[in-house]
Amino acid sequence: MANAKIIGLGSYIPEKVYDNAYMESIVDTNDEWITRRTGIKERHVSADDEYTTDIAVKAAEEAIKDAGISPEDIDLILLATVTPDYFTPSCACVVQDKIGAVNAMAMDYNAACSGFVVGVIMADQFITTGTYKNVLIIAADVLTKATDYKDRATCVLFGDAAGAAVMTATDEPGVISFDMGSDGSGHNALTSLAFRNDSEEIEKRIDGRKETIWMAGQAVMKFAVKAMADSSNRALEKAGLTYDDIALVVPHQANYRIVDSAIKRMGISEDKIILTIDKYGNTSASCIPVAFNEAVKTGRVKKGDKVVLVGFGSGLTYAACVIQL
Ligand code: UT7
Repeated sequence: MANAKIIGLGSYIPEKVYDNAYMESIVDTNDEWITRRTGIKERHVSADDEYTTDIAVKAAEEAIKDAGISPEDIDLILLATVTPDYFTPSCACVVQDKIGAVNAMAMDYNAACSGFVVGVIMADQFITTGTYKNVLIIAADVLTKATDYKDRATCVLFGDAAGAAVMTATDEPGVISFDMGSDGSGHNALTSLAFRNDSEEIEKRIDGRKETIWMAGQAVMKFAVKAMADSSNRALEKAGLTYDDIALVVPHQANYRIVDSAIKRMGISEDKIILTIDKYGNTSASCIPVAFNEAVKTGRVKKGDKVVLVGFGSGLTYAACVIQL
């Protein structure tokens, strides 16, 4: 059986910036609170007419170029999002059309902020069984379009971004191990409503919009620390490796305090992780590929290095994988 390896990465960050001074001008907050409680200084915001498929295309094109393949070579497109342009068609089909991946099957899925890692794991299944050769994974969200800018507890957290990876069948080592899971008993902890007319849920939202994100911040934080550390530890154990073998851990960037507590539980120090939270905030599933792309393109990790990707998200979900570059 072939191995599945990431051979190309891409990302896209929208131009417009909301810094903490701007957040101070729209809600009762301040730079000191946001920095101390979250680590966020700035977040990037999509233009009014810029949607998930638009930013996904940009990240995908960079990843395909980086991989040195043609769009026609892609067999499958997996797109993780919680802010799709449409209920149907999928964003993945729109992206397929725009990038010219005419031979691909394309579909969206929702594992919230764990989505990119789950995509790597799904692609690994299709590739190692010999079903597909090249899989494009995209994580793209415009969370700011579902943000309640009257709710200071959530609006300071979110930004928009897209990240993408091309995975291919190869004899070289690629995905070494993984761990993933869900705890649906926490499904009420972070919500955004579609058709459901749930008056209790709608009343929680200051702006009264159904699709706005509402979150029980402390409950999510408690889940996140344990889920990320334990999932990463289990993936490493399955690989027969320890953190000494790992060049970099790329965690989901929801809150600096979550990452800090999770790495303490893993028993590693901050020099083994990459942090982008200060620049981009929480951009959902794209946090991990955006940070990973930055680590690769700036030379922080090199070919042969082993890396852990680990995330958690609404659902509640978590996922980790150990890969070799
Ligand atoms: O991608 C996954 C999804 N999201 C997450 O992972 C986020 C998980 N949760 C968190 O990151 C944190 O829970 C938050 C950053 C959302 C909140 O931090 P916290 O330490 O849990 O604060 P808290 O909710 O306990 O609130 C503490 C105080 C409250 O005031 P009182 O009741 O003590 O007077 C809040 O009203 O801070 C207040 N507060 C704020 N103050 C200034 C909440 N938001 C703000 C704000 N500025 N933006």
